[in-house]
Amino acid sequence: MIAIGCDHGGFALKQEIIKYLEEQQIPYQDFGTYSEESCDYPEYAEKVARSITSGEAEKGILICGTGIGISIAANKIHGIRAALCHDYFSAKYTRLHNDANIIAMGGRVIGPGLAVELVDVFLHTEFEGGRHARRVEKMMALEEKD
Ligand code: RB5
Repeated sequence: MIAIGCDHGGFALKQEIIKYLEEQQIPYQDFGTYSEESCDYPEYAEKVARSITSGEAEKGILICGTGIGISIAANKIHGIRAALCHDYFSAKYTRLHNDANIIAMGGRVIGPGLAVELVDVFLHTEFEGGRHARRVEKMMALEEKD
């Protein structure tokens, strides 16, 4: 299952991504927000992040105006590797090399055509492991050092 969430700045793009998930018959849960009424992105970042760390969702998609606030917020939750991606190469390599479990995007930055391509490659690219596994382990160990 894929968890998806946004704030008001990402609402329109979230609806486009949901169309893609439905067309592809990819199971998802929409954690909101459900309109363009102003709201606070950390709340949706947390809902999506916790659905991943609980094991309920396999990966997540988060969208705010820039993608920045919602990705920073999600990365505060232990176990989350949220990658802000606005280009194809980053969306692919953050799976191959970082084993990212959330893709974040800015609804005021990119259009639906590119966003769907980014989500598609993100969801369909496996982690490469090997030397990258060691680096991901070291990255996650930083959470225990603070
Ligand atoms: C909301 O206006 C906006 O600040 C938010 O969507 C996001 O861009 C924050 O990083």
